[in-house]
Amino acid sequence: MNIHIFDNAEQIGAAVGEMLISAVNNDPDISLGFATGASPVPTYKYLIKAYDEGKVSFKGVTTFNLDEYCNLPKSDKNSYYSFMHDNLFDHIDIKEENVNFLNGNAEDTEDECKRYDALIAEKGIDIQLLGVGRNGHIGFNEPSDKFTKGSFRVKLSESTINANSIYFDENPMPRYALTMGTVSIMKSKQIIMIATGEAKKDAIYGMVHGDITPVCPASVLQLHPNVHIFLDKDAAVRL
Ligand code: F6R
Repeated sequence: MNIHIFDNAEQIGAAVGEMLISAVNNDPDISLGFATGASPVPTYKYLIKAYDEGKVSFKGVTTFNLDEYCNLPKSDKNSYYSFMHDNLFDHIDIKEENVNFLNGNAEDTEDECKRYDALIAEKGIDIQLLGVGRNGHIGFNEPSDKFTKGSFRVKLSESTINANSIYFDENPMPRYALTMGTVSIMKSKQIIMIATGEAKKDAIYGMVHGDITPVCPASVLQLHPNVHIFLDKDAAVRL
């Protein structure tokens, strides 16, 4: 694991942004896996600024998002589809047909997960961006007694509901989501994880120094050959 510790989230956004910009400039048809939540927002802001300044184009890029809530309309401001469009896609030249999401409103979620996994298998993911939950989740792979494989429908944990319900002021937060599985995430050629704030310190300790166990899903990243972890001092305090 390559661990990079910075003073603040903006510096992390710039460092990860620069990594992604050079990856896209080296391979304009690259396939990127994206995460939602607070952690990647400074990176997305940095990418938008670089795009505005003519330093990068996303015309050939394909993206796969990690997860999506179930039974929340795509148009809801809290859907991850809306999140990605508001925070990145609407501000750059990515083609809508090249952005991929799990459909959390699919009638048959098993079929939907198979569709998504087949697309990922066909295209591959060159770089997967990740955040981590306070409980060590990656994507929405919650602590469990076994590691997950492909995409699946998950019941969100109380920890995740507590952390994310702050965003739901109008509708109640969904209790289920579709998420990429652990094996799909591990198949990405490179993984970039971002975590900031003291609330993440135990998850970060477990991920880096703990046993490799599905009780802390992020600990599986110890087995990946090309992981970069970007932390602020508060998230790194136990390392
Ligand atoms: C989001 C995702 C989650 C978040 C994690 C951290 O697509 O898959 O694993 O990365 O919950 O969220 P933040 O960054 O809001 O602390």
